[in-house]
Amino acid sequence: MKTYVALFVLVCRVVIQSVIVEGTNSTEEKALIKVLMSNYTTGSRPVRNSMDTVTVTFDIALGQIIDVISKDRVMITNLWVRQYWRDEYLVWDPSNHGDLRAIRIPSEQIWRPDIVLYNRQLEEDVVIPDTNAAVTYEGDVTWLYPITLKSSCILNVEQFPNDEQRCDLQFGSWTYDGFAVDLINKTATGDTSSVIENEEWKLLDMTAKRTVAYYNCCPEPYPDVTYTVRILRRSLYYYYYLVAPSLILVLLTLISFQVPPDCEEKLTVSVTMLLSVVFYQQLLADRLPAHSGYIPILGRFFAATMFTVSLSSAMVIFVMGIHFHGPNARPVPPWLRRIALRSSKKQAATSDTDMYPSNSEASLIPTNQDDEDTDVDSNKKQALVSEECELTNRRKPLKTRDSGFTSMSSSASSVGSQTAEQTTAKVNTEEEKLLAPLRHKLSYAVRLFRQIVHRSLKKDKRIEISEDWKLVAIFVDKCLLVIFVIIATITTTAILV
Ligand SMILES: *[C@@H]1O[C@H](CO)[C@@H](O)[C@H](O)[C@H]1NC(C)=O
Ligand SMILES: *[C@@H]1O[C@H](CO)[C@@H](O)[C@H](O)[C@H]1NC(C)=O
Repeated sequence: MKTYVALFVLVCRVVIQSVIVEGTNSTEEKALIKVLMSNYTTGSRPVRNSMDTVTVTFDIALGQIIDVISKDRVMITNLWVRQYWRDEYLVWDPSNHGDLRAIRIPSEQIWRPDIVLYNRQLEEDVVIPDTNAAVTYEGDVTWLYPITLKSSCILNVEQFPNDEQRCDLQFGSWTYDGFAVDLINKTATGDTSSVIENEEWKLLDMTAKRTVAYYNCCPEPYPDVTYTVRILRRSLYYYYYLVAPSLILVLLTLISFQVPPDCEEKLTVSVTMLLSVVFYQQLLADRLPAHSGYIPILGRFFAATMFTVSLSSAMVIFVMGIHFHGPNARPVPPWLRRIALRSSKKQAATSDTDMYPSNSEASLIPTNQDDEDTDVDSNKKQALVSEECELTNRRKPLKTRDSGFTSMSSSASSVGSQTAEQTTAKVNTEEEKLLAPLRHKLSYAVRLFRQIVHRSLKKDKRIEISEDWKLVAIFVDKCLLVIFVIIATITTTAILV
């Protein structure tokens, strides 16, 4: 809006001035222009000696940075282009023309240098407005025009949203070489005094640089003037709409690590986090150019979050799979057990020995009684096993007792041993007869009991495996949490600092 007001004022001033000039010296000026234009050709350079060089002094005033489209690598600017040169045909003696020292001629009536923006990027042709050119009696031409240019600009968004960009505006003659039309910069900086602030980009500075290029084909130099506009992105908007939600997401992710891995809700939480991260990553990707050379910090931040959250989700799924497919679950491999369960063992020993048996290998084998277990759990099992063994031993109690008795009696006295033996043998057979059905029932009961014990042990083992995997999942979750905290800290500080 301001630009248009400024332009309007400029145009008005030019018109009013020309009206005033016309008012006072209208006939003089008319005559002068007629004389000047009588033999003038706009096509040829304004030098009397064709070996001479026309030196064009070039300058731009930056009116406004309208937009910098990161994704399209385009900067749209409003410029006032200023060109100064000497036209050897546009000279006159003011004393012969009513003391007229300067006139304004429509620029299309005189020779104009064909200075164009080399790195321009516009769908349609740039129309250079036919503004007037001011000419002094010495032949100094000043030609100014406003123009909106779309220039290509290589953006490096690695530091997004704290990125500083350098956009070049390279001007040069399209057809003339340096011997015909030389181009020099008027100032070392360009004019930024009347720039209208952009809401997203802060103008740091603008510098001018004249470079002369030589090509293999020809000896002529090709000068150009390049203005480098240095701009800094105002990041508040991005902090508010992109960074702040992502930081909150990270905090939530941190909290979601606190949900135990055997809780099914953890999956819901993790997947929701994952989806949110993907959503914000898409928002980011929509704004930035598809550059494969580097990943912006914010992108790395999202990628790290996504990686850790998805690993955590995968762990949850795995643990749940183990949990619900108990019978087919494989036990934790020894190497993993060594790494993962060592840390949790200490905790388990202090917190709950029943739930996390320390010597699970030994307790899993029911018949192995030689193990010196101090554990409550394995003691319990040992008790069960020994009970079972007692019962089985009772199947042949009399034999052993009998042999003991006989040996004792034989050692005690040999007198009347035969009678004693006979009586005991008689008693034994009677007892055997009496106990036979009982013994049969007993052995059945023992078998049944053994089955029950076996089953319960199997079930215990299943639970134990699932508990072990749960511990592994907790361990992995802890590791992921540590990794996540490290990554999140690094990336967050990189973004915020
Ligand atoms: C224009 O050129 C002709 C010859 O081509 C010359 O006679 C005449 O004087 C020139 N007029 C002016 C104003 O220079
Ligand atoms: C043109 O720009 C250069 C910097 O590249 C500067 O040193 C030089 O002074 C400028 N020329 C003029 C006339 O200001």
